[in-house]
Amino acid sequence: MLNLAHAPVLFAFFGTTLGALYTDPSQLTKTTYDFVVVGAGTAGNVVAARLSENPSVSVLVIEAGVSYVVLQAPLLGPQASVNSPFDWNYTTVPQKALNNQVLPYYRGFVLGGSSSTNFLTWTRGARDDYDKFAKVVGDNSFSWNKLLPFFKKSEQWVHPTDGRNDSGQYDPSVHGHSGPVYLSVTGNLSAIDSRVMATTQELSSEFPFNLDTNSGNLLGLGWIQSHMGFGKRSSSATAYLQPALDARTNIDVLIETRVTKLLKTGTSSGLPEFKSLNVVKSASSTPTVITARKEIILSAGSIGSPQILMLSGIGNPPELTKVGITPQVTLREVGKNLQDHPLFTAQWKVRDDADTFDPLTLAGVDPAPFLAAFAEWNANKTGLLTAVGGKHMGFFRLPNNSPLLRRYGDPAPGPGSAHYELAWQNGFVSVSQPFPTSGRYISNIHVLNTPTSRGTVTLQSSSAFTQPLIDPNFYSSEFDLQTMVYAVRSAQRFIRSSAWSDYVVSAYTDSQDMFALDASDETIIAYIRRWTHSIKHPMCTAAMHKDSDKGVVDNNFKVKKIKGVRIVDAAVFPFVPSAHPVAGIFGIAELAASKIKNFHGI
Ligand SMILES: Cc1cc2nc3c(=O)[nH]c(=O)nc-3n(C[C@H](O)[C@H](O)[C@H](O)COP(=O)(O)OP(=O)(O)OC[C@H]3O[C@@H](n4cnc5c(N)ncnc54)[C@H](O)[C@@H]3O)c2cc1C
Ligand SMILES: *[C@@H]1O[C@H](CO)[C@@H](O)[C@H](O)[C@H]1NC(C)=O
Ligand SMILES: *[C@@H]1O[C@H](CO)[C@@H](O)[C@H](O)[C@H]1NC(C)=O
Ligand SMILES: *[C@@H]1O[C@H](CO)[C@@H](O)[C@H](O)[C@H]1NC(C)=O
Ligand SMILES: *[C@@H]1O[C@H](CO)[C@@H](O)[C@H](O)[C@H]1NC(C)=O
Repeated sequence: MLNLAHAPVLFAFFGTTLGALYTDPSQLTKTTYDFVVVGAGTAGNVVAARLSENPSVSVLVIEAGVSYVVLQAPLLGPQASVNSPFDWNYTTVPQKALNNQVLPYYRGFVLGGSSSTNFLTWTRGARDDYDKFAKVVGDNSFSWNKLLPFFKKSEQWVHPTDGRNDSGQYDPSVHGHSGPVYLSVTGNLSAIDSRVMATTQELSSEFPFNLDTNSGNLLGLGWIQSHMGFGKRSSSATAYLQPALDARTNIDVLIETRVTKLLKTGTSSGLPEFKSLNVVKSASSTPTVITARKEIILSAGSIGSPQILMLSGIGNPPELTKVGITPQVTLREVGKNLQDHPLFTAQWKVRDDADTFDPLTLAGVDPAPFLAAFAEWNANKTGLLTAVGGKHMGFFRLPNNSPLLRRYGDPAPGPGSAHYELAWQNGFVSVSQPFPTSGRYISNIHVLNTPTSRGTVTLQSSSAFTQPLIDPNFYSSEFDLQTMVYAVRSAQRFIRSSAWSDYVVSAYTDSQDMFALDASDETIIAYIRRWTHSIKHPMCTAAMHKDSDKGVVDNNFKVKKIKGVRIVDAAVFPFVPSAHPVAGIFGIAELAASKIKNFHGI
């Protein structure tokens, strides 16, 4: 998202550990474990670490990606994906509603998965999101009140490294204080913070201040919380996997190795049982078979988990036959129901003397300011690199009398869920536009939180080494596009408030037409179609559902119609929460680990 051409890539290798870190299946000293976790990503590491708390249980985690803990300075987060060795390099199919553009579709290819490469924003979503989740899956454990202890269990609030008092920027009572993932508000304040706060007063009905948007009460504008502490990214690799490997001998990790398919091992209660799987180093290597005595946990993410099921013959039979796979189990919704949040950015030019991060990030600027900031981060874990680009974000709803709600109905899980999100960045930020070479800017991020478009993940080949066809199908619903138009007009009201009158000079070239006071919907829509990308929140491709003939997993995370396999990752959410999902994924993975431990009495 930022353009940090000078950013040195910072690697930290996992040091000596008790548990083993293998890089080739031939190094394994055994091929049967109690639990085999597929994907050392966000959710997989939570499950593996919790299951291995019991020393009598053996756990193997298999990860396709590499072993580094990457780009720990929060501001460098975006550099972990673009042309990086830590990404899957996926792209979408051409998006019809986006002038047929093909979009990049980043996914972490590294220990920690996408929690090692994402933008660090920590939002749980609304109370209503989880209360609806509980209804859809028919299990009260997924309600906000029941999940809150699991959200807290994953977290440890820490204070920012600039030494300021962060009281008044979050609510300590709604957070965990002794969990593995460090959580913090910005490590470096910015010059626009007071203007943002002034706007919450001046336009308090549209942009009310919310002390903590992670309290279940999501709506309003608050300080961004990020999964970082002591100036560094905290991922599921640093928070869960590394401590488990350091302390235990009953957990092993096999990296740079891909799971290609599950293998049928027998029948249990009349259902086919899949307790073995194939792993390979490369497309041409002979598979090694690995077996789980108790269960296989698929945590390969919203693209990887449905892909592995389909490669194993579990999915919609005609689609499998088409690519030469023999169907074994009919589960029509595998890879269906893909939900993601579209995002675009728009910028305003601000005063030339404004204190923004542009001197570090614009195209072709002098590298000295970046190198100085990096040196400060390296030596003291302070300064500009200890924060993501934005300090504030807000979650908002269409007004109750909005014609959109009348025309299309309200897709939000409840009245406390957000239709759209706005976030402000103290410099030029974009996921799609070319960066300018000079100037000072403020950027506005617009996100649709309750998308009604539904996409798909389908195989284009029977090889695990061919990327699946990914179609988020953005703006295939008119509600989605029109809600983004509303978000643009809302962002414009924000910047036209008096707090910005002596600061903002004009709309940036790309957005001049859209931000004209008399801009038509068509003008705004043209901008949206040109510059929308994914925020990279794909979910729901192996959705949980209470009815046996709907969805892919039951409310114990078990894959329907087969035995021996659960899925624990972003794919099982029945719908995308109305906020960034990673905090919710950590919480749901904690709940899943607890359910699995209870089931096996371990
Ligand atoms: C660039 C980017 C920015 C984002 N920003 C944010 C943000 O700021 N806030 C937020 O809340 N969310 C953000 N997200 C989304 C969030 O990080 C993800 O939704 C979340 O981390 C997904 O967790 P997961 O466990 O489902 O999958 P992942 O964490 O992606 O883990 C899946 C793991 O499985 C491995 N795997 C896949 N297939 C195989 C296979 N066949 N064999 C072996 N291993 C396999 C992968 O390599 C990966 O390590 C972002 C995502 C990206 C990519
Ligand atoms: C993605 O591309 C980078 C190089 O740009 C490469 O290092 C990396 O291995 C690729 N990822 C995969 C999964 O092939
Ligand atoms: C931070 O400020 C709050 C409210 O003013 C105060 O109660 C608290 O003691 C302060 N904390 C520290 C560590 O100074
Ligand atoms: C780190 O902090 C020390 C003490 O405040 C300071 O003297 C030093 O200049 C800082 N280092 C960098 C590289 O900023
Ligand atoms: C952010 O960090 C930089 C570098 O240390 C510092 O110069 C600046 O004053 C900090 N910003 C604020 C608002 O404190």
